[in-house]
Amino acid sequence: MGTPLDTVSQPRSASGRLDSGGDTGIPSGDAPPATWPHDTDALITFIETRFHAVHRRELPDLVRLARQVEASQKTHPAAPLGIADLLQCIEWDLESHMQKEEQGLFPSMRHGEHPAPAAIALMLDDHEDHAANLQRLRALTRDFSVPGDACPTWNALYAGIRKLADDLMAHIRIENDVLFPRFAA
Ligand SMILES: [Fe+2]
Ligand SMILES: [Fe+2]
Repeated sequence: MGTPLDTVSQPRSASGRLDSGGDTGIPSGDAPPATWPHDTDALITFIETRFHAVHRRELPDLVRLARQVEASQKTHPAAPLGIADLLQCIEWDLESHMQKEEQGLFPSMRHGEHPAPAAIALMLDDHEDHAANLQRLRALTRDFSVPGDACPTWNALYAGIRKLADDLMAHIRIENDVLFPRFAA
């Protein structure tokens, strides 16, 4: 019934910078998938549906929640001031990046063509930028720690950000360590 699934518990990246949650300080959660299709066409569809679509669905809600928290908690000593603008930048950066993959890289990969090495290198650079933004989120949220008197919106915001971080790191690992190496020069 389904396509064959591959399992990689701890994929390794060429750069070594995204090998584990410990490298970026982003804690792992239960959201990232443990298996994915082996077939390249099915793998790309999986990336588009499990990651691209989920980022697009969740990030606008996170920006909205962040603006609410910043407005209602601005005098709280642990208020994550600036987090809404950071999440908005992450949404815009990711949208631009995902469009480049969906409109350029992925169609050629689906046709079995090898993209120019520079095109893949550009995506890898983007991934490093995404990881750096996650580090900024981690610092701004004090490792995703809500204060004891946090309101439900604040709790929901940090839970959502933690899921985003887990999803985005899994997304990057699958592209860096599973998909892109198939098209290495
Ligand atoms: Fe992607
Ligand atoms: Fe990507």
